[in-house]
Amino acid sequence: MVTALDEIARHRIVPVVIARSVDEGLFIADALYEGGLPVAEVTFRTAAAPAVIQALAERGDVVVGAGTVVSAAQVDVAVAAGARFLVSPGFHPDVAARAAEHGVPLVAGAVSATEIMAALAAGITTVKFFPAETSGGLPALRALAGPFGDVTFVPTGGIDASNLDEYLAHPQVVAVGGSWMLPRAALEARDAATIVRSTADAVARAAASPQAAPAPRANG
Ligand code: 3PG
Repeated sequence: MVTALDEIARHRIVPVVIARSVDEGLFIADALYEGGLPVAEVTFRTAAAPAVIQALAERGDVVVGAGTVVSAAQVDVAVAAGARFLVSPGFHPDVAARAAEHGVPLVAGAVSATEIMAALAAGITTVKFFPAETSGGLPALRALAGPFGDVTFVPTGGIDASNLDEYLAHPQVVAVGGSWMLPRAALEARDAATIVRSTADAVARAAASPQAAPAPRANG
């Protein structure tokens, strides 16, 4: 069975979506799809998130997950709405346990050896290295990748077209997350062309990256 993590590994880019309405979420999904990226991490930063997840899940052509999941209750809401993967900014055992109960993969945040060990103890082998750039960036990720050779990373936070390639090239980076292809001004103006262009650029960089994505193992 192809899991959501397999699909993320194939696309190698996880767009972080902050949608204020279902309408905005559908607009974003259309633009991402047109740019070649049928993936969306819909964050629980807006009240619209569950409805957006549901609308994208019903479309059926987008790998939809929930982001900024910080409680077990949000895991339930996300899964009920149709989220196929879950992303947390940090690690909490209650969130990990609830995700595992549902059998939905959780990419939990971890930027230190201690946090990675906590994630591993919960059965999570793909972690979100967040916030990437302010947590030491690629040098820090490289240092952690050494002792944790079986862990794969989804660096997110402060990544854009200027530093995407170097993250993608790391052998333990399964995918890169971020919101750079979805600038708020473009969303406000319903400027799909800007989003499509920036998404297509990221997709092309991922495809051209010399490093084949490592196969992620089951999370949670
Ligand atoms: C996230 O929640 O993953 C981050 O806000 C994404 O970081 P970015 O906005 O710097 O890409």
